[in-house]
Amino acid sequence: MNSLAIFGTILLAASCLSNPLSRETRATCTLTGSSINDLSSIKQSCKSITIQNLNVPAGQTLDLTGLKSGTTVTFSGTINFGVKEWEGPLISISGSQIAVNGASGNKIVGGGPSYWDGQGGNGGKDKPKFFRAARLDHSVIRNINIYDSPVHVFSINRCQNLTVDNVLIDDSKGDSGGGHNTDAFDVGRSSQITIKNTRVYNQDDCLAVNSGTDIYFENNYCSGGHGISIGSVGGRDDNVVRNVVVRNCEVANSDNGIRIKTVYGATGSVSDITFQDITLTNINKYGVTIRGDYTNSGSKGTATDGVPIRNLVVRNVRGTIKSGGRRVMILVKGASNWNWSGISLSGGKSASDCSGIPSGSGAQC
Ligand SMILES: *[C@@H]1O[C@H](CO)[C@@H](O)[C@H](O)[C@H]1NC(C)=O
Ligand SMILES: *[C@@H]1O[C@H](CO)[C@@H](O)[C@H](O)[C@H]1NC(C)=O
Repeated sequence: MNSLAIFGTILLAASCLSNPLSRETRATCTLTGSSINDLSSIKQSCKSITIQNLNVPAGQTLDLTGLKSGTTVTFSGTINFGVKEWEGPLISISGSQIAVNGASGNKIVGGGPSYWDGQGGNGGKDKPKFFRAARLDHSVIRNINIYDSPVHVFSINRCQNLTVDNVLIDDSKGDSGGGHNTDAFDVGRSSQITIKNTRVYNQDDCLAVNSGTDIYFENNYCSGGHGISIGSVGGRDDNVVRNVVVRNCEVANSDNGIRIKTVYGATGSVSDITFQDITLTNINKYGVTIRGDYTNSGSKGTATDGVPIRNLVVRNVRGTIKSGGRRVMILVKGASNWNWSGISLSGGKSASDCSGIPSGSGAQC
């Protein structure tokens, strides 16, 4: 290496650090324009990162994994993503004690209309998932606005102590535009997760918990999708769901209101679940649906008891079901210790094929 190259290396280091001799990092770094090439050096040298009016090139992940502990990431202006058929994710974040914030008026736009073909993740175009939070611990995501997700939005996996607060997910254009499988929040293998004060307009689950413990879903509004769901549970690496509280939420214009589905013939457990103070408006299929006969190709019609549903409280669930829908559907086996009260649903019909309701639970079809 000649002396010029060495000098160049020192200059580069000096430009990243306020003082190259200390471990202090620069105050704020801004990523903007149409390249994300600077991201890895920014992650090394900055604990306050602003992502502003950025066009992420097609087929690349806005890779915010491995952030330094204590990093703040602020989304500002409009963030767009080039269109390409691939699996994504468009954004990936990991780290500990991370704060993700949105500045006023921020928009994170996934380009959904270029992908939507009515087939979601089941076929047609390859669609990138949007936002992967994996091993994002002791962290907060707040005040961001997400539009037009190609397919699934948030995948929360192996996270501990993550709060998502005041987030908008607006895939409403997909209602008539072929949006499908646009799950808002998929949660797996995570603990101490709080999702609150969010508004979701989509075409699939508002929340789907596949596994995890201590999950709180509060003060959320869900419209256009498949409702708030625990499950499907069973058939994965981790099949235990424990202590989920869904409280003070509204589900509108959706196929289901609240639901638990466990996989036919699988093993696992679902316990300590509370649905409380839920408003349902214009539900198409089922207001409350708890079933243990789920398969990928539909409901089996008979439940198995390998994933028993225990300690289930359903309290104060009110609202309206559309005329072709069912108010409550329960088809389970091996369930125990349920406590249902204050279910007041109008419209729709009662289901005639319920079974497995624990006696004395107050639940009825
Ligand atoms: C959870 O994360 C928040 C935000 O970083 C932090 O303030 C809090 O102390 C953490 N709680 C626990 C129990 O670790
Ligand atoms: C069920 O919940 C109600 C409150 O909604 C409570 O008064 C009652 O004691 C509970 N019953 C059981 C068996 O836990």
